[in-house]
Amino acid sequence: MSETSPKLRAELEGIPTYKPGKPAASDGPVAYKLSSNENPYPPLPGVMETVTAAAASFNRYPDLACTGLVDELAERFGVPASHVATGTGSVGVAQQLVQATAGPGDEVIYAWRSFEAYPIITQISGAASVRVPLTPGDVHDLDAMADAITERTRLIFVCNPNNPTGTVVGREELERFLDRVPGDVLVVLDEAYREFIRDPRVPDGIELYRERPNVCVLRTFSKAYGLAGLRVGFAVAHEPVAAALRKTAVPFGVSQIAQEAAIVSLRAEDELLGRVGSLVCERTRVVEGLRAQGWTVPETQANFVWLRLGERTVAFAEACERAGVVVRPFPGDGVRVTVGETEANDIFLKAAEGFRKGL
Ligand SMILES: Cc1ncc(COP(=O)(O)O)c(C=O)c1O
Repeated sequence: MSETSPKLRAELEGIPTYKPGKPAASDGPVAYKLSSNENPYPPLPGVMETVTAAAASFNRYPDLACTGLVDELAERFGVPASHVATGTGSVGVAQQLVQATAGPGDEVIYAWRSFEAYPIITQISGAASVRVPLTPGDVHDLDAMADAITERTRLIFVCNPNNPTGTVVGREELERFLDRVPGDVLVVLDEAYREFIRDPRVPDGIELYRERPNVCVLRTFSKAYGLAGLRVGFAVAHEPVAAALRKTAVPFGVSQIAQEAAIVSLRAEDELLGRVGSLVCERTRVVEGLRAQGWTVPETQANFVWLRLGERTVAFAEACERAGVVVRPFPGDGVRVTVGETEANDIFLKAAEGFRKGL
């Protein structure tokens, strides 16, 4: 066999591979997966029926343009259908956005720590990442992010609520920031956890996009709508950003099953958002429980909580796993724990208490 191997782009060197949340152990006593910010509820019966019916035609390609879903979303949000672009999960759309705006010599700004996919998709594009540290309270430092803009900046991610801290930025500060961003720099408001927000200070990105051609909003069916495994997300953006997303989309990337499941999920929104309401109640219980134990927990508006554990991060994650819940450690930094089913949250709270007592 030849010693040489195909030449790969130098930009790919050193890219950390995306680490999915660890699955729950199958051989332990009980094991709950609280490591991927998934929705713990099983699919609604109506969604399941639609998916099963759609599966009968998977010998055919899906609707390339996702027409039915795009129309449904356009009506739901009161935007032109030409402003809606779908993709293989919102991470797929995020990657298309970077691909459409940035390449070698360009810069992409985002807060850090934030969603782990941002550095990966930026590096793949050949652009440079500019990471702006969160404030000591774990919130986006929007003033510092605006200060970091240069002539080379092409795209800025604002993750609201932020993954993994759950913290939010409010309307006033976000508008002040947007006023400082030049019109030729794209601002992506990543609202993957939008439906879990209860803080009235947080604006709906779709309202902000309407008056600002350089603002794009990212949403997903993976979290509140419980379709993580089907891979469907979308952006709302003005032309030509939405058109660029159609150009960079993987052809037929969103399956027909996913398209139809997303449509019925939008129509079953009351029931799904009722489930979100229950998770929000659980979130309150988990946060209050942790605080009562003496932990410092940032105010979260997402379906997870953040514990800044520093050097004790891995030990804490291991203690949780022994207790029966798998959480998401970011070694040296902190642990993100998804709010799951009541029983899982109980096990987690108990494990957290045990860990604290052992300190
Ligand atoms: C902030 C944020 N954006 C986007 C995504 C991507 O979700 P999906 O690709 O499933 O839509 C996630 C998933 O964890 C996320 O946390």
